Amino acid sequence: MTEVTAIAHPNFAIIKYWGKANSKTNTPAMNSISLTIDSLTSTTKISINKGSKRNIWLLNGKEQNDLGRINPVLKYLNNISRNNHGCIIKSENNFPTSAGLASSASGIASLVTAYNHFFELSMNFDQLVQASILGSGSAPRSLLGGFVILDVEDQIFTQTILEPDEWPLSIIICITDDNEKTISSREGMEISRHSSPIYLSWLDTNKKDIEIAKSAIAEKNIKRLGEVAEKNCYFMHKVMKTSSPPIKYMTDRTKNCIKEINSIRENGVDLFFTVDAGPQVKVVCRPDDINLVKERLQNKPYVLNLIEANIGSGARVIDED
Ligand code: PMV
Repeated sequence: MTEVTAIAHPNFAIIKYWGKANSKTNTPAMNSISLTIDSLTSTTKISINKGSKRNIWLLNGKEQNDLGRINPVLKYLNNISRNNHGCIIKSENNFPTSAGLASSASGIASLVTAYNHFFELSMNFDQLVQASILGSGSAPRSLLGGFVILDVEDQIFTQTILEPDEWPLSIIICITDDNEKTISSREGMEISRHSSPIYLSWLDTNKKDIEIAKSAIAEKNIKRLGEVAEKNCYFMHKVMKTSSPPIKYMTDRTKNCIKEINSIRENGVDLFFTVDAGPQVKVVCRPDDINLVKERLQNKPYVLNLIEANIGSGARVIDED
C-alpha cells in the first residue's frame, strides 16, 4: 500500500461539552451526545514521507505550519505502529473549515481511520478513541454514526445509542458566515473553565441533560429532545459570554435565524436548533417538514447558504492504492 483514503463526517452536539478535565490529554470535563451529519465530509489521504521524519499536513490543498493538533495523534499512532518516518496527510473538507461545523472532529476521525488501515494495525475501538481525542475532544464521536454518546466519567467510552435508520431525522445547516473563527474552541474552553462564574453549574447540569436527552432519544420524542438541546445550547453560550474575556460565537445573523426557527415552531412544526463554536445554526426536523423549513429559511438576508443533511454513519476507509 502506498496511500489510504478514509472519510468521516462531522458531528453536532445536542448535549455539549465545553471545558476540559485535563488539557494535556485533551479529555472533556463532561459527557456529550451528538448526531453524525452525512452530507458534510472530511476526506483524508495518508502516505509515508520516505526518508524523512517530518510530518506534512495539507488542509484543503494548503500546507499547514501549525501541526499542534495532529502531532499528538501521530505520536500516539506511531508508538503503536513503530513507524519512524514522517507521514504525508492530505485532508479536504467539502464544507467551511474552522467555522463551527466540527471540521476538526471529522478531520481527526478520518486521519485515525486512514492511519489504522495504512499500517494494518487493527486497533481496537478504545485505541481509536484514545488516538482521536488527542486531536479533538469531539473527534471520537465522528468515529461512529447515528446518535452518539461520549462518556468520560470513569473511562472514556463512545457508543452509538441510536443508529441512523432507527429514527430518520433531517438536518438543515444555516451558514450565516463562512469565515474562520478567531478563537479556537480549545482556547475558548480553557478561558471559560478558568473564568466563567457559572462554569461549575454548567458542569452540574450536564448529568441531568444527558439523562433527559437519552430518554427523549429512546422515545424518539423530538419535542422533548429539542427542549433539552436548546436549553443546553443556550447554557453553553452563556458560559462563553460570562467568561473573561467574553467569548461570543453567536452573531446577529445567528439570532435572526433562531427567531425564524422559533416562529416556524409557533406555526406548529416540531423542530429544534443548536449552535456550536461558530455562528452557524443547525436545525433538526422531521423529514416530512424539511421543505417547509427550507422555504422559511432560504433567501433570508442573514443566511448565506443552506445545507441539507441526514444522520450519517461512522468513519470508514474508502480507497487504498
Ligand atoms: O473538542 P472540539 O474542539 O471539537 O470542541 C467541540 C466544542 C463544541 O462543538 C462547542 C461542543 C461539542 O460538544 O461538540
